[in-house]
Amino acid sequence: MSGELSPIDKAKFVAAKQAAQFVEDGMRVGLGTGSTAAWLVRCLGEAVREEGLRFTAVPTSVRTAELAREVGIDVVGLDEAKWLDLTIDGADEFDADMSLVKGGGGALLQEKIVATASDQMVVIADAAKEVEHLGNFPLPVEIVPFGWRTTQALVEETLVSMDVMGRQASLRMNGAQPFITDEGNHILDLHLGRIGNPRQLAMVLNQIPGVVENGLFIDICDQVVIGYGDGRTETRDINEGTVTEDRLEFVEAENIFRDI
Ligand code: 5RP
Repeated sequence: MSGELSPIDKAKFVAAKQAAQFVEDGMRVGLGTGSTAAWLVRCLGEAVREEGLRFTAVPTSVRTAELAREVGIDVVGLDEAKWLDLTIDGADEFDADMSLVKGGGGALLQEKIVATASDQMVVIADAAKEVEHLGNFPLPVEIVPFGWRTTQALVEETLVSMDVMGRQASLRMNGAQPFITDEGNHILDLHLGRIGNPRQLAMVLNQIPGVVENGLFIDICDQVVIGYGDGRTETRDINEGTVTEDRLEFVEAENIFRDI
């Protein structure tokens, strides 16, 4: 069954499987959103069903909550859990400082709140997500629907004085309609090409009226688990300054590949 997975999916799977080992009995854990995070949820579901793992899960989107319940993980809201030991999530880009671009799946707001309310954030990603400079992936910015064109114009005007290559902001669409986030907002995707100063940009964007949150995660991520298509993983810890390598074997009969 795993033979049907593309190399990129294998890379996402091994990163997720490696990071699933960080979850211990009794922990409160934030579950990210996206295809890599979905592998994590499936791996943790398997551990719950087959190894009796018990932990408190806080999802970062409606779809992660649905998948978690489907695979046997009970979920609670962040306010019930209050503070988390760990959040594991995917990313669209990460750099050498473990600064991230997130929100390709449109869940950046809950993802940032949950990750910030966690002692540790671990990013799981295939190797293609590593970049020298953030910004090639369009930067998602969540905005309120009211007056969104005015907010878009303000964002584009603000970008003129920022250290970025491109300055165009496009409203994310879902077919013919604007994309709606779980919080009922819209998303602007900023086509920046290269972000010279991610910290400054993150602060400035959030000061624009109508902007709810941006997809730059600065000083939030502690570890990145990078997966490769041949089963190798590399875990980098920014606080410890360590790099750990491992290799996971694919087991054709693993229940986790059912229905994929
Ligand atoms: C969702 C996200 C995702 O983590 C990000 O888009 C990566 O997704 P994938 O794992 O599918 O590549 O930020 O809002």
